[in-house]
Amino acid sequence: MPTFTGEEAQNYDSRITKLVPGYALIHQLTGAQLLALYPDSATILVVGAGTGKEIVELAQLNPSWRFIAQDVSADMLAIADQHFTKLGLQERVQIHHGAISPQAYQADAVLCLLVMHFVKDNGDKASLFKQMSEQLKSDGHLFIADLEKPATSFEREAQLIVCKQLGLTDVGEQRMRVNLEHEFYPVDKMRLAELLDTAGFGIAKPFFKALGFAGFVVDKQ
Ligand SMILES: C[S@@+](CC[C@H](N)C(=O)[O-])C[C@H]1O[C@@H](n2cnc3c(N)ncnc32)[C@H](O)[C@@H]1O
Repeated sequence: MPTFTGEEAQNYDSRITKLVPGYALIHQLTGAQLLALYPDSATILVVGAGTGKEIVELAQLNPSWRFIAQDVSADMLAIADQHFTKLGLQERVQIHHGAISPQAYQADAVLCLLVMHFVKDNGDKASLFKQMSEQLKSDGHLFIADLEKPATSFEREAQLIVCKQLGLTDVGEQRMRVNLEHEFYPVDKMRLAELLDTAGFGIAKPFFKALGFAGFVVDKQ
C-alpha cells in the first residue's frame, strides 16, 4: 500500500491526477453539492485530507466554511499546512493527525475522498465509518468516493489505459497494476450498504462514476 510519507507525499499532487480518472471532477461535484446544501456557514471534516487539495478548493467556494483536515500521515498534513499558510487559510482550518475520538467534532458534512479503498475490510472499514458517523450532526451528510470492486472483467484494464493517457509512465502503470490487484481493498455496493447501515448511515446516492471510481452522498440516519 502507498505509505503517503517522504517522497510519496512530496510528489502526491502531481501523481494523483494520473491515477484517478476524473480526480478534479470528484472535488468539483462535491464542492457544488456542499454549496447547494450549505450556502451559509458550515463545519466540514475532511477525513484523509492528504495535501489539502479539497480544502483549498472548498475554501474558495465559501469564505464562511471552516474545516478540519484529518489524516494518518503527518507528512501529507505537513504539506497541507504549508498550502493553508501560503493561502492565508490557517485561521479556518484545524489540522488533526491520527484517529478521532468519539464526538470530537459536530460537523455538518464529512468528506472521505479516495481513502476508504486503502482501509482493510477486517473491521477497520467499519471502525472508520463509525468514527465518521460520530463526528456528524444528526442531519449531516457524508461524501465518499473511492475504488469499487470492478463491474466488468475489463474495467481495470480500461482504467490503466486512461491512466496512461493522463500521463502515467510505464513504471507507474506497473506499480498501479500491482496496487490495484493486491494493495487496495475495494468493496461492492452491497457491502458498502451494509457498512453504512451498521454505522448509522442511510442509502448511498451516487453522484460520480468513472470506471472503477465511484462517489456517493449519504445522510446520517
Ligand atoms: C489518495 S490520498 C487522498 C487525499 C485527498 N482526499 C485527495 O482527494 O486528494 C489518501 C489519503 O488517505 C490517508 N489515509 C489512509 N488511511 C487513512 C485512515 N484510516 N484514516 C485517515 N486517513 C487515511 C492517506 O494518508 C492519504 O493522505
